[in-house]
Amino acid sequence: MSTPPRRTLRSQAWFGGDSKDSFIHRSWMKNNGLPNDAFDGRPVIGICNTFSELTPCNAHFRGLVEHIKAGVLEAGGLPLEFPVFSCGESNLRPTAMLFRNLASMDVEESIRGNPMDGVVLMAGCDKTTPSLLMGAASCDLPTILISGGPMLNGKFRGMDIGSGTDVWKFSEDVRAGVMSRDDFMAAENAMSRSPGHCMTMGTASTMASMAESLGVTLPGNAAYPAVDAHRARLARLTGRRIVAMVHEDLRLSQVLTKKAFANAIRMNAAIGGSTNAVVHLLAIAGRVGVNLTLDCWDHFGRDVPTLVNLMPSGQYLMEDFCYAGGIPAVMQELSDVLDLDVLTVTGRNLGEAIAGARNYNPDVIRPRGNPLLAHGGIAVLRGNLAPNGAILKPSAASPELMRHRGRAVVFNSIEDYKARVDDPALDIDESCVMVLQNCGPKGYPGMAEVGNMALPKKLLERGVRDMVRISDARMSGTAFGTVVLHAAPEAAVGGPIALVRDGDAIELDVEARRLHVDVSDDELARRKAAWSAPAPAMKGGYQSLYVERVLQADRGADLDFLVGCRGHDVPRESH
Ligand code: FES
Ligand code: MG
Repeated sequence: MSTPPRRTLRSQAWFGGDSKDSFIHRSWMKNNGLPNDAFDGRPVIGICNTFSELTPCNAHFRGLVEHIKAGVLEAGGLPLEFPVFSCGESNLRPTAMLFRNLASMDVEESIRGNPMDGVVLMAGCDKTTPSLLMGAASCDLPTILISGGPMLNGKFRGMDIGSGTDVWKFSEDVRAGVMSRDDFMAAENAMSRSPGHCMTMGTASTMASMAESLGVTLPGNAAYPAVDAHRARLARLTGRRIVAMVHEDLRLSQVLTKKAFANAIRMNAAIGGSTNAVVHLLAIAGRVGVNLTLDCWDHFGRDVPTLVNLMPSGQYLMEDFCYAGGIPAVMQELSDVLDLDVLTVTGRNLGEAIAGARNYNPDVIRPRGNPLLAHGGIAVLRGNLAPNGAILKPSAASPELMRHRGRAVVFNSIEDYKARVDDPALDIDESCVMVLQNCGPKGYPGMAEVGNMALPKKLLERGVRDMVRISDARMSGTAFGTVVLHAAPEAAVGGPIALVRDGDAIELDVEARRLHVDVSDDELARRKAAWSAPAPAMKGGYQSLYVERVLQADRGADLDFLVGCRGHDVPRESH
């Protein structure tokens, strides 16, 4: 492809000319050792780094960024790295999701306020991918994303073990008395044995796969392990490519189209991806002005089979997925249902970008004729318990519970649940439906990953491993079970889930997409009249802003004033 004639780039509004201000912009930058020609009009590439030692999944980014910089320099650009809020899943309290929107604000304002012509987003741990894409989408410069890559497979006493997924199993085994504490600690060492993010098809790998499916990464981005030399090479090629994207003025909004989101939703079904992708894609679409609704998830994904045999839906891990061919191989299997004409950051359409990809392991990436699950996707449920929708991931659920009627056992907070779940006197059996209230966006706050409540100990000891659970919360992408999530409106705003009481009959019918509490409208109205909102957890600070302005789950749980693209013009001088 020939390079279009050079245009005057955005960064020249800072670095070009002979004014007092241009002196200031250039001179201070030169304290890094930059020569005069660094400011000659070449593309200035911001590299948005979510490195943090408190985000262990992204702690190797100091090394990875050097490969991106090398690529930018090779292509004739000027790389300038900048840090943003790093949303680390494993440590942040009360939940990393509370800070996804905060991080996106940091990203947006850092990009818009600074002299850059294009952006490389360095994502890894769960929330880092959506927060970077949301912020960048609100600016709409040429943008490309690279993931830090998954960890190598966990290896424990001859078994492959997966991040998160096996933690749930091990911790239930400890509670059920079949695993010792020493073995539990040994498993910790064995699970996380290289740099990188979770190597199950949890939220991090799902969001890396979503980014690749949306076309905002180079092909192959999602699956290469963090420590594979392919990852470093991809970083270098990503650095080269963003410089060309600036010359082509290939902006994020040209890639993030409705068709691209439809592809991503279909791919989420095919990979057995995390339920968290629902709120993240809705929020990203909102930033770029694409009309994506919760129902799009059911509509586009419903008939797509799950092909990727990875935990938590299946058996394998990301390293296996990489060697099997990764996302491009899945796209080849699904080429008849994907829109291959969409433009990607490669400058070519999706079909061209994945040409030649092959499936090298039909057990890891199942062929269409032998899927892991005939109907993957996300089921969007409605009914008097969730008028604005709730979701369930069929591939992680138990087939025998997909149609179920049971007696509600209600917990009004996660603390209430923890205090009572193992009480031998708790009136519960495996036919009951566990209901958790006040864990939604405003209620927790931040919509915590607590929807997959562990089962009562007395039932675990009897060998029960799944029950219907319903909440306004999220669940970890590495979790599994017949778990209804994201019920909207949430309990903390008086949604019907707040009105459920012990003993109410609840009906779940996934095939019919129905979620119903068998209580009359009059009785629900009486309960609503007696309901009062819970007191906010914190007064002032970001949490108050969040609780005041956060949208419900069916709108992606973004802050209302952040929806939309505000562009990248900065009309005023800084001095
Ligand atoms: Fe970071 Fe799972 S905790 S990706
Ligand atoms: Mg998580």
